[in-house]
Amino acid sequence: MRKNLAIHGGKPITKRKFPAPHYFGADDIAAITKVLQKANSHGSRPIEVLQRGTERHKFEENFSNLHNSKYGILVNSGTSAINSIYGAINPDPGTEVICTPWTSIGSISGAIFHGMVPVFADIDETLCIDPIDVERKITNKTRAIVAVHMFGNPCDMKRLIEISKKYNLFLIEDCTQSHFSEYQGKIVGSIGDISAWGLSEHQHFTGAGSCGVLVTNNTKLYERAFGYSDQALNRIDGPFRKYPYVHNFLAQNYNANELAASILNVQFSKASINIEKKIKHAQNILDQISDIPELIPQKVRPNDRHTYWNLSLILSKNAFKCDANQFSEAIQAEGIPFGGPYLGTGNHPLGPLYKHPVFTNLDAFGKSKYPFNYKRIRAVDYKLSKCSNGEDLMSRTINFSPLSTLTEENVGNTIEAIRKVATYYIK
Ligand SMILES: Cc1ncc(COP(=O)(O)O)c(C=O)c1O
Repeated sequence: MRKNLAIHGGKPITKRKFPAPHYFGADDIAAITKVLQKANSHGSRPIEVLQRGTERHKFEENFSNLHNSKYGILVNSGTSAINSIYGAINPDPGTEVICTPWTSIGSISGAIFHGMVPVFADIDETLCIDPIDVERKITNKTRAIVAVHMFGNPCDMKRLIEISKKYNLFLIEDCTQSHFSEYQGKIVGSIGDISAWGLSEHQHFTGAGSCGVLVTNNTKLYERAFGYSDQALNRIDGPFRKYPYVHNFLAQNYNANELAASILNVQFSKASINIEKKIKHAQNILDQISDIPELIPQKVRPNDRHTYWNLSLILSKNAFKCDANQFSEAIQAEGIPFGGPYLGTGNHPLGPLYKHPVFTNLDAFGKSKYPFNYKRIRAVDYKLSKCSNGEDLMSRTINFSPLSTLTEENVGNTIEAIRKVATYYIK
C-alpha cells in the first residue's frame, strides 16, 4: 500500500537520532591517559613521547603485518598518506596519473603538488575504475594508476596489475573507504606497489579525528615516503637515522601523534568485529529489499569482500517518478540519514572531480596554469573530460552508511523507509 510520505506531510518512520560512527569507551580514555601520564613523567620529553613513540610503532607494525607489508607509516590524514606516496614516487612534472573522478581530491592532490596531471578514467557497475578505460587513457607521460576501492568494493586488481606491469606504472591503492575489503581472498592494500588509508572520523575506524597510514614492501618507496612525511629529516627511528640532522629533499611534516595512535590501537583491535557488523547490516538491508528489482545494488565480483563503508543502490533507469536526489530526500524526511548521489553527481553542477572549480579553472599555482600546461602545447581542458558511464550510474545512486553502531531498530527503520519511498515513487 502507498503511504503518505513524510516529505509530503505524512508521519515519519522514526524521530529517533541515529548514532555516531564510532563509540569511544573507557579503553580509549585509558589509552590516552596513559600517553599523557607518560609525557608528564618525562623530564626532557623527547620526540618519542608524544609524537613518535611506542603507540605509533605498535600501530604501524600491526597494520603493515595485516597487509603482508614490511613497512607502515602513520601520518595525520589519508590525504597526507597519499601525498607521501607521490613524494615517494618523486615523479617528473608534466607526467600523468590515472584515477577515477569519483573520489576525494585526496587521491590526487599530492600528484598535482608534484607537478603531475590527473587524467580521469570512467567506472563500471562495480563503481570502481574501469580497467578498459584506464588502458585507453595511457600515454607516454603516464607514471601511475590509483585504484580507489569504491565504498568498500575492491577494484579489478588482476587487470590493473596487468596494465601497470605492461606499461611500467606504479599501482597505488587508495583503501580509504575499504579497510579489510578483499579482492579474490587478498586483503586490499596488499596488492599494489604502495597503499594508503584515511582513518578519519567517518572511516571504518579512526584515531579520534584525522589520521592516515600507508604500507609498502618496497624499501625505496618506504624510505622516501617516510622522509616525505617528516621533512626528510634524519630521525632516530627513520631510515636516515645514521646521517646528520639535515633536510634531504623537499618534504612535508605529516606526523601523527601518540594520542591519536593510542586510540587507533584500541579501535584497530575492534575494527574487524565492527566491520563484520557493517557487512551484516548491509546484507540484511539488501536481503530485505531484494524483492524491489528497481533498486540495483553496487555490483560485487564473486569471491570479493565488500566491507560496506557505504551501501550504494542504483535506481533502475526510467523505473521511478523521481530522481536519486528526490528519492534520498524523501528517505531523509522519514528520519533516516540517507545520501543522494556521491559528490553531488546528478542535478548538482559539481559532480565528478573534473567538474570542480580546481579543475575547470585550473586553480593551483597562481595564474600560471602549472602543472596542467607544463611541457604541453596547451593546458589540459578538464571541461572536455567526460566519464559517461559513471555520470549515468552515479547520478542514479542513493547511499547509506551501515554503521557498526546501528541498532536492529535503526536497520529495521531504514528498510521500512526504503520500501515506503520506493513503493511511492515506482512507476
Ligand atoms: C577515497 C578517498 N581517498 C582519500 C580521502 C582523503 O582522506 P582524509 O580525509 O583522511 O584526508 C578520502 C576521504 O574521505 C577518500 O574517501
